[in-house]
Amino acid sequence: MSSPRRIAVLISGNGSNLQALIDASNTSALPNVQIVKVISDRKDAFGLQRAAKAGIPTQVHNIVPYKHLPDTPSDPLISERRKAYDVDLSKHILSAEPDIVVCAGFMRIVTPSLLRPLQEGKVAIINVHPSLHGDLIGAHCIERAWEEFQAGKRKSTGIMIHHVIAEVDLGEPIVQEEVSMEGCQNLESLQERMHVVEHRLIVEGTLKVLDSR
Ligand code: GRF
Repeated sequence: MSSPRRIAVLISGNGSNLQALIDASNTSALPNVQIVKVISDRKDAFGLQRAAKAGIPTQVHNIVPYKHLPDTPSDPLISERRKAYDVDLSKHILSAEPDIVVCAGFMRIVTPSLLRPLQEGKVAIINVHPSLHGDLIGAHCIERAWEEFQAGKRKSTGIMIHHVIAEVDLGEPIVQEEVSMEGCQNLESLQERMHVVEHRLIVEGTLKVLDSR
């Protein structure tokens, strides 16, 4: 058997998508893999505990040590602070020699300072986004879809696993699936329905990218 495909995961919070990857690892859903590192931008992310429990090395990479750098964009949109943060994030990731980086609820917008070194190192980077491609972009998509559903403006939303590019939530989709909102009684029931789908798709998307390499 060839050596396991190496996965690094970026998180910010609960880590239920990370858990889906941990649970699927080395089953028929995600064969021959090793989650080699979990990095969180928040030290209190529950996902760090999930990783530790699974014996996966963790690292916190917080923005606070970069706060002395200006946050005013120096070139079109990106500040020195965000660039410096991402340069170091790329180093932390590459030190684990992953084949793929999965952004699993990582709540930071990444910049070319992260994407370029990964591309040069031939490391794929993918993200889970709770909307179909080109529909809702940015944060709080489930809440926004719920408001539109309540206002009678939509009947479904979706989940997408996509390649990460500098344009937020607009990279090429790897897998996506529509999620009907019919019968959802409240935001919590929609969130639950969305999580079931994203936990399946994040595994499918990761496998698809690893198998295509
Ligand atoms: C997920 O709903 C994901 O789609 C969004 O952030 C949430 C993260 O959840 N980008 P978790 O931390 O994986 O539980």
